[in-house]
Parts: sequence; C-alpha cells; structure tokens
Amino acid sequence: MPFDDDRFRIAAARLEDYRDCLTFLNERGQDLLRSGDLEYRDALFQARLMDRTRTRISIIRERETRQMVAVALLMVSYDWRKGVGSVEYVLVDTDFRGCGLGRVVMEDLLAQAREVRPRLAVIRLVSEPWHEAARSLYQKLGFTLVDGSDRHFELRLHH
Ligand SMILES: CC(C)(COP(=O)(O)OP(=O)(O)OC[C@H]1O[C@@H](n2cnc3c(N)ncnc32)[C@H](O)[C@@H]1OP(=O)(O)O)[C@@H](O)C(=O)NCCC(=O)NCCS
Repeated sequence: MPFDDDRFRIAAARLEDYRDCLTFLNERGQDLLRSGDLEYRDALFQARLMDRTRTRISIIRERETRQMVAVALLMVSYDWRKGVGSVEYVLVDTDFRGCGLGRVVMEDLLAQAREVRPRLAVIRLVSEPWHEAARSLYQKLGFTLVDGSDRHFELRLHH
C-alpha cells in the first residue's frame, strides 16, 4: 500500500523525539524487548542513542495527533575499519500495520545508513523465523539470509 504523506510524517529522530521513542518501544514492542524495558535513566545508553555517529533513528508520526506510529533504529560500529550497521529495532504500532509504514521507515533508515561516513560496508539484523511480516519486508529490501543461519540477515552496501 502506498505511504500516505498527507497523514504521516517521516523524519530522522531529533532531540525531542528520544523519550517518545523509548516509550513507544517499551509500550508497543514487548515481543522485541526480551531482555526487559529500555531504561530511561541509563545515561550511557541515552548518550549513545543521541550520537549521530553511532546511532541513526527513523520515526513516523501521525501528523494530526503527533502520535509516534513507527520506529527503526540502526547502531553503527567499525570492526577493523569495516563499517557495520546493525538494525536493532523495527516496530510499527499494531493499529497502523499493513499501510506501508514498515517499508517506508526501513527505506528511510537505509537511506540514512548510506550517508554514514566512514562508509558502512554492510547492514546486519537478526529476525526470528516467526517474524514473518518483518522477514518478508527485509527480503524485499534486498537483505539475504547469511549462509547457515535461519535468522541472520545481511545487506551489502559497499565492498
Ligand atoms: C514488520 C513490521 C515492521 C512491518 O510493518 P508494516 O507497516 O505492517 O509493513 P508494510 O505495510 O510496510 O509492509 C511491508 C512489507 O512487509 C510484508 N508484510 C507486511 N505485513 C505482512 C504480513 N502480515 N504477512 C506477511 N508479510 C507482511 C510484505 O512483504 C509487505 O510488502 P509490500 O510492501 O510489497 O506490500 C510490523 O509488522 C511490526 O512492527 N511487527 C512487529 C515487530 C517486528 O517483528 N519487528 C521486526 C523484528 S526483527
């Protein structure tokens, strides 16, 4: 389904969005947070989230209500000078699924990933076999299963 630009606004997270992001993930993403809720008072975690050299976040809000409806988050690291992006959370509010928001929030995150310097060579993510919607989405975006794994996906950006 095409993205309804009149109804929704997509953007990279700004300072005022971080708290809402954590609340959204904690309240709506229970099946993603198997090690417990994200911690608001963890200063190191917050500093990492807000550091654009280490984290990129795409969010979608409903324009009229300002309600957050989708989030995708990428952690950036450099492993022996090879840039690696890890998609950590992808979540669309249950009331808003199937309207193209998941695809758009991931496409925006990948566009942000391509801008990271030094460049990222690869984007990785883990998606459990029962997350069928997510796996279908990732495969449509070009991610492929890593040889020998049923849950580790990769997308090569540069060699
Ligand atoms: C995965 C998720 C983000 C998809 O968001 P969404 O907004 O519903 O997805 P979209 O409407 O943009 O659909 C994108 C693609 O996902 C796939 N998809 C969406 N819903 C699906 C479903 N119920 N069954 C199978 N595939 C589905 C389709 O391939 C679709 O392709 P299309 O763009 O060609 O139509 C959402 O279902 C979600 O938040 N799930 C729970 C959290 C989760 O599993 N996160 C990922 C953890 S790795």
